[in-house]
Amino acid sequence: MATILVTGGAGFIGSHTCLVLLEADFEVVVIDNFCNSDRESIKRVEALSGKSITLYQADLSNTEAIRDVFIKHTIDAVIHFAGLKSVAESCHDPILYYANNLQSTLALLQEMTRAKVFNLIFSSSATIYDSLHPAPYQEKHPVIGKTPYGQTKLMIEQILSDLPQSDLNWNISILRYFNPAGAHPSGMIGESPKTTPSNLLPFISHVAAGKQASLRVFGNDYPTPDGTGIRDYIHVMDLAQGHLFALSEVLQQQGDFFEVYNLGSGKGYSVLEIIKAFEEANLISIPYTVVERRTGDVAISYADTSKIERRLGWQTHYTLPEICQDAWNWQKQNPSGF
Ligand SMILES: NC(=O)c1ccc[n+]([C@@H]2O[C@H](COP(=O)([O-])OP(=O)(O)OC[C@H]3O[C@@H](n4cnc5c(N)ncnc54)[C@H](O)[C@@H]3O)[C@@H](O)[C@H]2O)c1
Repeated sequence: MATILVTGGAGFIGSHTCLVLLEADFEVVVIDNFCNSDRESIKRVEALSGKSITLYQADLSNTEAIRDVFIKHTIDAVIHFAGLKSVAESCHDPILYYANNLQSTLALLQEMTRAKVFNLIFSSSATIYDSLHPAPYQEKHPVIGKTPYGQTKLMIEQILSDLPQSDLNWNISILRYFNPAGAHPSGMIGESPKTTPSNLLPFISHVAAGKQASLRVFGNDYPTPDGTGIRDYIHVMDLAQGHLFALSEVLQQQGDFFEVYNLGSGKGYSVLEIIKAFEEANLISIPYTVVERRTGDVAISYADTSKIERRLGWQTHYTLPEICQDAWNWQKQNPSGF
């Protein structure tokens, strides 16, 4: 069975994807520096799957450490999750974001080339869609780097798009995620950020758990029916499955392959709708206060998922109430995260 190197595999999306890979009988090797995760997530994935993961604690910008992994293992493909992901933090500390996200990716690509491993799946983000174009977003719609975080995703997409032109061996699939949310239904793995969460569902869960007095809703004067921002929430297990579909396509290619796919639910919900859905799904009340708009936020963003549905047959299975239940189930079982 093929061996997949998962960078950032201890993180939120990485851990769920590792589980799905193990369940599909792939061998999994993880590199993570745990800057925003905990090795406990890997232990939980091993417990859930009954299989083991080979784990290396290393920073991806450490070329020697990565080289060593490619020497020790015959890697068939890389899924590259590792990166910093907070839009707000990237606006406060752009150098940190450019340094971490770009240096680690360049080092990874150099070592992949050296090891002649040319199959890659990259985690990009819907944040790069230009909001001047109305949603739903298709992969061919204009993209723009509105924040340093978004810029790093755009720059990496640009770098990756150059590779098949320089070496016909490359097979690259870029996945643009909308808003990953929820957790594995067991409640054993989920999102466990090391700092205050900036994503809506973990934030709501923290309020539900009493860790924060009320939810801050960033702006209620957007041109949407209730004035709050509309986003596309995708259950993290649907997202993880999407990687299996993309991986299977990449592994069948003979080279000169470059594709971009949206991974979202194709539906948009406002912040107030999400609060209501969480309250109804979990029978719990979420107090909130409206504050100023947040830098980098747009009014409406949701995916057109027809390309990945048509080409790969992927579609979402989890509903919004399930996203809310699984997010809360994870929070209740793990009040302090991992
Ligand atoms: N969660 C989202 O809302 C979202 C949306 C769109 C795109 N993405 C992208 O998906 C990827 C995974 O996101 P996530 O939500 O799982 O984030 P996460 O922070 O939970 O996981 C990222 C993992 O990468 C590791 N990491 C970061 N920099 C590293 C480095 N230099 N060397 C080694 N390990 C490093 C972290 O320790 C962490 O385990 C990221 O690239 C993110 O930008 C996430």
